Amino acid sequence: MEDIHVVTGASSGVGAALSQYLAGQSLNVLALARRLPQLESVQSGHEQHMQVLAVDLGTTEGRQAVVRHIEGRYRVRSLVHSAALATRGYLKELEYDTYRELMSINLEAPLFLTQALISSIAPAGRVLNLSSGSAYRSMEYHGLYSVSKAALLMLYQAWNADFPTGEIVFGSAMPGVVVGPMQDAARQGNNPGADTFRQYKADGRLIQPIRVAEFLGWLLLQTDDDAFRSQDWNIFDKSHHANWLDGPLTGQY
Ligand SMILES: NC(=O)c1ccc[n+]([C@@H]2O[C@H](COP(=O)([O-])OP(=O)(O)OC[C@H]3O[C@@H](n4cnc5c(N)ncnc54)[C@H](OP(=O)(O)O)[C@@H]3O)[C@@H](O)[C@H]2O)c1
Repeated sequence: MEDIHVVTGASSGVGAALSQYLAGQSLNVLALARRLPQLESVQSGHEQHMQVLAVDLGTTEGRQAVVRHIEGRYRVRSLVHSAALATRGYLKELEYDTYRELMSINLEAPLFLTQALISSIAPAGRVLNLSSGSAYRSMEYHGLYSVSKAALLMLYQAWNADFPTGEIVFGSAMPGVVVGPMQDAARQGNNPGADTFRQYKADGRLIQPIRVAEFLGWLLLQTDDDAFRSQDWNIFDKSHHANWLDGPLTGQY
């Protein structure tokens, strides 16, 4: 059976860059998201090593479609949960359907897609969640996203507690402030927080997705199991930069 690396949220941002980075290393990648045209443009030039599947991972049916694609055909070497929504709004005005939509992809997909693929994950295969500073502190108007990321932060620890012998190894990483649609949306309008995100851009604190892909690629492919599961890795932590960063991390993008 062939090894495969599964990346969610692969139609844009971090997931797209990571899919291309891994395929560029001649590793087999299954790139997942809902929008097929965007997935196909990410795949373009990487057809030999990248397959794409358009699925809604917030649903049981979508996750089962992934299982059907993989089970009995591939051994999952890594599973990276990059897909997420960053819906904004006050909790006092939060509608249940909005809550359900966000939690279904930010929390339920990392939990239940992992669960559904467990029998296909290689020995000591790796599962990596995309974390955020929002897991540690919330901003006005961004509460639901923070709640989902705080729960996701505990999820990798809970999985590791369930797999103490390292049969599967679970990790977590913060990608920083990344160029792409999530930050584009965060800077729009006059809602609370927008000024903070505009300032991040003005200050040149944004990071290109390819840099995040290099960071995650190092974590997935070069660290040992104890290091991989030891912390919520922060891209801004300079202590690991010598291992993977070649050039400036941030810039005026
Ligand atoms: N961007 C930042 O500054 C930043 C900062 C800290 C943490 N993070 C975290 O890093 C990760 C990547 O962020 P990003 O900037 O790459 O985000 P992004 O560009 O907005 O990408 C989000 C991805 O999630 C997919 N997605 C959303 N709902 C889905 C669903 N129901 N089923 C399947 N796919 C779904 C989207 O694809 P479709 O719409 O095609 O489905 C898209 O590919 C996220 O977990 C985010 O929370 C980002």
